[in-house]
Amino acid sequence: MARYLVTGVAGFIASRVAELLLKDGHTVVGVDNMNDAYDVRMKQHRLEQIEGTEGFQFHQLDIGDKEAVAALADDGPYDAVINLAARAGVRASLEDPWVYVRTNMDGTLNLLELCRHHNIKKFVLASTSSIYGADAPLPTPETANSSTPLQPYAATKKGAEAMCHAYHFLYDIDVTIVRYFTVYGPAGRPDMVMFRFAKWIREGESIQLNGDGEQSRGFTYVDDVARGTILATKNLGFEIINLGGHESITINELIALLEEHIGKKGQVERYPFPKADVIASWANVEKAGKMLGWEPAISLQEGVKRVVDWYEEQRHWAQDLDLD
Ligand SMILES: NC(=O)c1ccc[n+]([C@@H]2O[C@H](COP(=O)([O-])OP(=O)(O)OC[C@H]3O[C@@H](n4cnc5c(N)ncnc54)[C@H](O)[C@@H]3O)[C@@H](O)[C@H]2O)c1
Repeated sequence: MARYLVTGVAGFIASRVAELLLKDGHTVVGVDNMNDAYDVRMKQHRLEQIEGTEGFQFHQLDIGDKEAVAALADDGPYDAVINLAARAGVRASLEDPWVYVRTNMDGTLNLLELCRHHNIKKFVLASTSSIYGADAPLPTPETANSSTPLQPYAATKKGAEAMCHAYHFLYDIDVTIVRYFTVYGPAGRPDMVMFRFAKWIREGESIQLNGDGEQSRGFTYVDDVARGTILATKNLGFEIINLGGHESITINELIALLEEHIGKKGQVERYPFPKADVIASWANVEKAGKMLGWEPAISLQEGVKRVVDWYEEQRHWAQDLDLD
């Protein structure tokens, strides 16, 4: 059994990664600063699902805090660090880019330093499809240009990726960077389209749609992403691997799918298309297949059904969640 340091553990994806690791009998030291980038009640809910599980230990701390991260060595030794903590909103990164640098870049550096000084040989970093910018070929392979980020969010992820490479080269830390594509699922982020649209349709509130709805996304179910992230803890040297869904749909098609599962029609209110957003994202996942034996398993039909079922079950509190 292995001992993992998982950052951002109250977050959407990391909480699922921690759950799967614990279920397999591993030990997880989880950290999160519980910030209010989105409604913190969702983070508390996720944490409650894990707290009390045997083998789990939680620290509330900021990975941008060098001393606090260095002190995590006291809870080691660790077999691997899985760094999923991040400021992750694309548009919010235009308002406060500094907090993105502190978490996504300084935070990653602090964790790499922890690896360097405490002989932790494996580092997994969550990165993003946003790194591919506006003109990426579809489906997008890892070799597509990622050197011209369009928002501070993508720029900080690119910086973190580059720092990982430097630490791999200098200190022989085995690094796998997983680039996720629009992840969704139960207890998903209230600042992301799947949760917002499900809530708006269910509650009879108008759907705030950016642009004409013809922008498309390759949605990826959270369990698939969590499983791929755990597979990425194997030793590979230094690799960048896409983890993305096999089905790409437009936002208009997504609305229709949600309406079908919720059994209710939504009212659309249109807003201009934000400059920071990309028109389409869709992953080429051949490399994940070859190197990790990974492929997405959950269809959009099934995944959307699970989101709708989760919302209905948790509606007594989830309907009050703030979406801003
Ligand atoms: N959800 C997606 O579609 C998606 C797509 C591409 C990449 N990613 C990446 O995947 C990772 C997880 O994303 P998510 O969707 O679960 O986001 P999330 O916001 O739900 O999870 C991130 C967690 O990190 C924590 N955190 C943020 N700053 C911190 C800090 N300075 N110190 C400690 N904890 C901190 C947050 O409180 C949060 O709980 C992120 O690195 C994100 O950039 C996500």
